Amino acid sequence: MHPVISATGLFTPEDSISNEELVDSFNRYVEAFNRDNAAAIAAGDVEELSKSSVEFIEKASGIKSRYVIAKEPVLDIEHMAPRWRERSNDELSIMAEIGVKACRDALERAGREAKDVDAVLCAASNMQRPYPAMAVEIQQELGIEGFGFDLNVACSSATFGIQTAADYIRAGNAKSVLVVSPEITSGHLNWRDRDSHFIFGDVATAVLVEDRSIAPSGHWDILGTKLKTVFSNNIRNNFGFLNRAHPETAGNPDKLFVQEGRKVFKEVVPMVAGMIVEEAERLSIDPQSLRRLWLHQANSGMNRLIAQRVLGHEASDDESPTVLDTYGNTSSAGSIIAFHLNSEDLGDGDTGLICSFGAGYSAGAVFVRKSA
Ligand code: COA
Repeated sequence: MHPVISATGLFTPEDSISNEELVDSFNRYVEAFNRDNAAAIAAGDVEELSKSSVEFIEKASGIKSRYVIAKEPVLDIEHMAPRWRERSNDELSIMAEIGVKACRDALERAGREAKDVDAVLCAASNMQRPYPAMAVEIQQELGIEGFGFDLNVACSSATFGIQTAADYIRAGNAKSVLVVSPEITSGHLNWRDRDSHFIFGDVATAVLVEDRSIAPSGHWDILGTKLKTVFSNNIRNNFGFLNRAHPETAGNPDKLFVQEGRKVFKEVVPMVAGMIVEEAERLSIDPQSLRRLWLHQANSGMNRLIAQRVLGHEASDDESPTVLDTYGNTSSAGSIIAFHLNSEDLGDGDTGLICSFGAGYSAGAVFVRKSA
C-alpha cells in the first residue's frame, strides 16, 4: 500500500474584494463610528477608531485581494459580515455545495468516478454545524458509499486530513479518499477589526489521496508526512455551542478570529522550519534539494523566512509560489491552492513539500514526488 495524490480540485467564488474596496468600506465605517460616538470619545469613555490603509495591508501581509461568497454585505458598513438566505434542511448546505464543486473538479482530473471513492474527510477551520457531519452530506451528494467525518485543526486541517487519508491507505482500510476543505473564512473574520480585517478569503479545495495501484499517471507519491501541535492562545476563536452558557459575552469580538500576529510570526516560523528540516532528514531528503515549496498562505514575510531556512537561500517565486496576493489567507486551503495552481510544470522525480501552519499551534508537512 502506497499513498499518492491522484489529483486536486479547486472552487473559487466569483466575487473578489480588492484592498482598495475593503479599505474604502472600513474607513467609512470608522468615520461613521467616530462621528456617532464623538461625545463619548471626547469624554474619554470610548476609544477613537483609526483608519486602515491599502499600503499597510500589502506591506504587512502581501495580500492584494480576496475572494468571498457574499461581497455586498461584507462591504456594507451597516453589516460587515457575510449574509445569505438560510437554507432548509432539504437543501444542500453552502459548505457542502462548495466542497462538492472542489471534489468534482478533483475527481474529473483523476478520471475517477465518485462511486469508487471509499471515504470523505471534510477538513476545515470552521464547520457550518456540529452534525450531521459536513463530510457525510458531501459524501451523500457525490454518491459515495463508505464513510465520512469532519476534522478541524484550523489552518492545518487539510494536511492533517492528507496524513489521515494516507494512513487509511497504508493500513489497507481504503484505496481512495477525498480530503475536502471548504473554507468560508469570511464568516469567522471580524471585518470591523483593523488588525485583521484584510486577512481572509473564501475558497474550497479537494485532494484525492489514493493507493498507487489505482492512481492515474502523473500522480504525486507521498514520501512522508509529519504533523505537530503545540498549544497556544495566540490565534483563537471562542465561538461555539457553549456560548449560550454565558450569554453576557456572546457578542464579544473574541467569538470571532483573534490573533497576536507578531507573536504568531515569531513563534511559528522557527517551529515550522525546524519541523520541515528534521522530517526531510528523517526521510533522507536534502531540504535544499526540494524543487518547490507549497507553503501555507497567511503572510508573505513568514513564507519568505521559512523558505529561506529550508532551502538555504532566498526562494524565488518559482521555488515558493504565492497565491496569497489574489486569494488572501484561505486557512487550510492555502497550501493546496498553491499546489493546485503551481504543480503541473514539474517533471518526473521532482520532489516538493506541501506545508501548513496556524492555530493550535498546528503544522503539517507532506513530502511529495512527481511520478510521470
Ligand atoms: N492599516 C494601517 N495600519 C495598521 C493596520 C491597518 N489595517 N493594522 C495595524 N496597523 C498598524 C498598527 O496600529 C501598528 O502601528 P504602531 O506601530 O504605530 O503601533 C503597526 O501597523 C504595526 O501593527 P502590527 O499588528 O504589529 O503589524 P504586523 O507588521 O505584525 O502585521 C499581521 C500584522 C497580522 C499581518 C502579521 O503580524 C501577520 O501576518 N502575522 C502572522 C499571522 C498569521 O500567520 N496568522 C495565522 C492566521 S491563520
